[in-house]
Amino acid sequence: MTKVLVTGGAGMLGHKVVKELTETGYSVRVMSRKREPTKLLSPTEWAQADLETGQGIAGAVAGIDVVVHAASSPYKHTRRIDVDGTRLLLEQARVAGVAHVIYISIVGIDRVPYYYYRAKLAAEGLVKNSGIPWSVLRATQFHYLVDLFLQAATKAPLVTLLPTDLPCQSIAESEVASRLCEIVIAGPSGRLADLGGPEVRTAGEMARTWLMLRGLHRRVLPLHLPGKVAQGFRRGDNTCPDQPVRGHITWAEWVQSKYEVQYNQANRKKVTREMK
Ligand SMILES: NC(=O)c1ccc[n+]([C@@H]2O[C@H](COP(=O)([O-])OP(=O)(O)OC[C@H]3O[C@@H](n4cnc5c(N)ncnc54)[C@H](OP(=O)(O)O)[C@@H]3O)[C@@H](O)[C@H]2O)c1
Repeated sequence: MTKVLVTGGAGMLGHKVVKELTETGYSVRVMSRKREPTKLLSPTEWAQADLETGQGIAGAVAGIDVVVHAASSPYKHTRRIDVDGTRLLLEQARVAGVAHVIYISIVGIDRVPYYYYRAKLAAEGLVKNSGIPWSVLRATQFHYLVDLFLQAATKAPLVTLLPTDLPCQSIAESEVASRLCEIVIAGPSGRLADLGGPEVRTAGEMARTWLMLRGLHRRVLPLHLPGKVAQGFRRGDNTCPDQPVRGHITWAEWVQSKYEVQYNQANRKKVTREMK
């Protein structure tokens, strides 16, 4: 049976990849810095390893056929983990005889001069030159990430300051996970067509949808971000609307399903109050 290692397999994207691969019948090993959790999706294996120190990587890749590399650290020690750590992982994977490495990357990393994107681009290069048959999939921002940004931006009461003009083509992380599983099945495919969400909308539009579907009331005010990184995002360099394959789950559908319970409870309370 093909054995797949998912680095970052406990993360937002990774755990969905693990679940789908396991349900498809693959034997899956999760790589994480954390100790093995008490409850594991059967028959998933767990490997404790750290891309920053190299500890545990050799054991994590031993006996593995395919690596889905989804571990990443955008905000802390990025270069050490995403670039040097990827190099260590690939070296050990080559020694272990891994037959296919799949790297999940981001749309626009070669166009937006953002430090995190530079690290992702360098990691892509390492994968392509690793000597291991490879696939690289670039995806746009995940819906959950936009949700996190909006949660942070709406901490202050009444008013939300946002770069309202930035376009975004966010995608459901579950659909990216499904695409990665297809790539596991397909085998080494090189650089694949970029994958984006079903629609390009501005951050302002997305914020208004998010507020409306959550029953929240805030004024959304524009914030102008200076600099070349913001310019790149404003140009839409992080989107890929011309690609033939797109996700299907819209931002509104994702928000609705995430906040459905909370929204229904709030509305039930409101109706009950109004009836009294
Ligand atoms: N989020 C997006 O919008 C987006 C869009 C396109 C592509 N991507 C790419 O998709 C991948 C997954 O993103 P995500 O949003 O699902 O991220 P995430 O939830 O933050 O997961 C990343 C995982 O990386 C692992 N990690 C971090 N430092 C590590 C280290 N030193 N050693 C080993 N593992 C380490 C963490 O696992 P443990 O804490 O368990 O160790 C973490 O769960 C990333 O490569 C990202 O660039 C993300």
